[in-house]
Amino acid sequence: MTNESQPQLLVTGASGQLGRRVIFHLIHTFNVKPDRVIAATRKPDALADLAEQGVVVRSADFNDPASLESAFTGASRMLLISTDALDVPGRRLAQHKRAVEAAIKADVDHIVYTSMPKPELGSPIPFAPDHYSTEQDLASSGLGWTVLRNNWYSENLFASIPRALSTGKWYTSAGEGRVAYVTREDCARSAAAVLASNSRDNARYDLTGPEALGVTDVAKIAGDLAGVPIEVVHVSDQQLAAGLSAAGVPAPFVSLLIAFDANTRANNVSAVSDTVFRLTGRAPTTVTEFLRENLQALNIK
Ligand SMILES: NC(=O)c1ccc[n+]([C@@H]2O[C@H](COP(=O)([O-])OP(=O)(O)OC[C@H]3O[C@@H](n4cnc5c(N)ncnc54)[C@H](OP(=O)(O)O)[C@@H]3O)[C@@H](O)[C@H]2O)c1
Repeated sequence: MTNESQPQLLVTGASGQLGRRVIFHLIHTFNVKPDRVIAATRKPDALADLAEQGVVVRSADFNDPASLESAFTGASRMLLISTDALDVPGRRLAQHKRAVEAAIKADVDHIVYTSMPKPELGSPIPFAPDHYSTEQDLASSGLGWTVLRNNWYSENLFASIPRALSTGKWYTSAGEGRVAYVTREDCARSAAAVLASNSRDNARYDLTGPEALGVTDVAKIAGDLAGVPIEVVHVSDQQLAAGLSAAGVPAPFVSLLIAFDANTRANNVSAVSDTVFRLTGRAPTTVTEFLRENLQALNIK
C-alpha cells in the first residue's frame, strides 16, 4: 500500500487525556488499523498498552526539536494537541512553532490543531495568544490545516461544582454570560473524525456542546441532582479576586479565574455550533447528561 492510500495518522501528546481518547476513537469508532496510528509522546512507556495493540509509539517532546522530525516522519495527517505549558509566557507558543516546523520538514500533509473559542487579539484569556499565533502559523505553513476551537470542557466543572455544593454558594463575576460546555470525549471523537477523514479544507470549526448555560443554569442542574440548593452570588471581578485570595488560591490562578469569568461575561464562549454532530454523527453531550454520568467525581451521592 502506498502512503497515500493508507495515510499514517499521528497524534501528539498521545498520553494526555485527550490524546488517549482520540486514539481510542481512531481505532474503535473510525476503524483505523492500529498500525496506521502513530502515538507521539514524551512518555512512550505510558503507552505500552497501545504498542501491544500495534500502535506505533514514538518519543516526541516539543522542547526537544531533534526528537520531532524523526517522530513525525511518515505521518500524512497529524493532530497537534496544544500543550499544557502555561507556566512561562511564550513557552507554549514556542513549542507549537517547533512542532509545525518539524511537520513541514517531515512532509506531513495536514495538521489538525486544538485551539480555543475566539482567541483573537483582545481576548481576556492570557493564553489566547498562544492559540491565535499557532493558528496563524498553520495558515502560513503551506500545509493543509484544520483548527478545532474546543470550547471549555464540561470536565472543568469538577473544579467549581463540588465547592458550590459543599458551601451552598457559587460566587461568580461572569454575570449573565454563558458557556457552551463541550465534553472532552466529544472533542476527542470530533478530532479523530477529522484526522481519519481525507479533509483538506483549511477550516476553523467551533466544537461546542448543544446549549450555552449561565452559572445559574449549571447551579440549578447540579443542585437538583444533589438535592441541595446552590445560591449564585454575583460579584465584581475585584470582589471575586479578594474572595479567592482569602480562600488561599494562589495569585496566578486567581488572575486566570477572573479572566475566565470576564471572558464568559463578554460572551466569548457562548456560541453554539452543530459541528460535533456534523463531524461525528452523534449529538454532543448535554451538561445534565455529563453531570449525571459523573456524580461521584462531583461528590454527589
Ligand atoms: N478546552 C478546555 O477546557 C481545556 C482544558 C484543559 C486543557 N486544554 C488544552 O487541551 C489540551 C489537551 O487537553 P487534555 O485534557 O488532554 O490535557 P492533559 O491531559 O493535561 O494533557 C496535556 C497534554 O500536553 C502535552 N504536552 C505537554 N508538554 C509537552 C511537550 N513538551 N511536548 C509535547 N506535548 C506536550 C501532553 O503530551 P504527553 O504527556 O503525551 O507528551 C498532553 O497531551 C491541553 O494540553 C490544553 O492545551 C483545554
